[in-house]
Amino acid sequence: MSMLEVKDLRVAYGKIEAVKGISFDVEEGQVVSLIGTNGAGKTTTLRTISGLLRPARGSITFEGKRIDDVPAHKIVTLGLAQSPEGRRIFPRMTVEENLMLGAFARKDGSSAVRQDLDAAFELFPILRERRSQPAGTFSGGEQQMLAMGRAMMSRPRLMLLDEPSMGLSPLMMKKIMSTVQTLKAQGTTILLVEQNANAALKISDVGYVLEVGKIVLRGTGQELLSSDEVRKAYLGEE
Ligand SMILES: Nc1ncnc2c1ncn2[C@@H]1O[C@H](COP(=O)(O)OP(=O)(O)OP(=O)(O)O)[C@@H](O)[C@H]1O
Ligand SMILES: [Mg+2]
Repeated sequence: MSMLEVKDLRVAYGKIEAVKGISFDVEEGQVVSLIGTNGAGKTTTLRTISGLLRPARGSITFEGKRIDDVPAHKIVTLGLAQSPEGRRIFPRMTVEENLMLGAFARKDGSSAVRQDLDAAFELFPILRERRSQPAGTFSGGEQQMLAMGRAMMSRPRLMLLDEPSMGLSPLMMKKIMSTVQTLKAQGTTILLVEQNANAALKISDVGYVLEVGKIVLRGTGQELLSSDEVRKAYLGEE
C-alpha cells in the first residue's frame, strides 16, 4: 500500500474538466513531483487531495483511508498539510501568528505545538529572528519559508507543496529545494508541484508529467531529467 493513492481522478469546474482521469501514487518517505506547464491541472489536483475541491470521479486514499469525501479541516488532522500556490500568508499578522494558524486543528496540547514551532524555527532561523514582525513585510522567499513553516505546524506525514520556487531567485530556490530534502530526511513525505522541472526532478524520487489534465509520463527524477521529451518541453532544450 502506498501512502497516497490517487485513482482515475477527475475534477471539473462546471463544464471545464481540469483533471481528466489521472492515477498516481506517493510512497512513504519519498519526494514525488508533478510537473507541468500553466493550466495543466497541478493546483486543481493538490486542492482536491487537500479536500478543498471535490472530485467528479475517482478516489483518493491516504494511509489506507478514503479521503475524497472528508472535509479539508479533518484531512489536516489525518496528517496531510498543504503549502498553497502563492503562499497565502496573512500580511497583517505576525510571523508567529501565521505559524500558529497551521496548528489550528491540533488537539495534542501546547508543549507539542511549541516543539513544532521550534522545529520550524530550526529549519528557518529567519522566522525566529522576525517572529514579531508583520508577515506582509517579508520578501517572496521569506514568505515561502513561512508558508512551509506553517504547513509543518500540523506535524504532517505528507506535505503538499504548490510551486514553492515561484518567483524566487536561483539562490533562494536552491535553499527551498534543499529544505525539501531536509524535510524528507526528517521523515516527511513530499508531493511537490513545480513548473521548474529541473529543480524539482533533481530532488525527486519519482516524477509525473501532467499535460492538460492528463499524466503523459512517469519516471524516476533522473529518468525524466534525461528524457528527450522532458528536455524539449520543460527544460527549453532543442
Ligand atoms: N476556479 C476555477 N474556475 C474555472 N476554471 C478553473 C478554476 N481554477 C482553475 N481552472 C482551470 O482549470 C485548469 C487547470 O488549472 P490549475 O490551476 O489546476 O493549473 P496549474 O497546473 O496549477 O497551472 P499553473 O502552473 O498556472 O498554476 C485551467 O484550465 C484553469 O483555467
Ligand atoms: Mg497552479
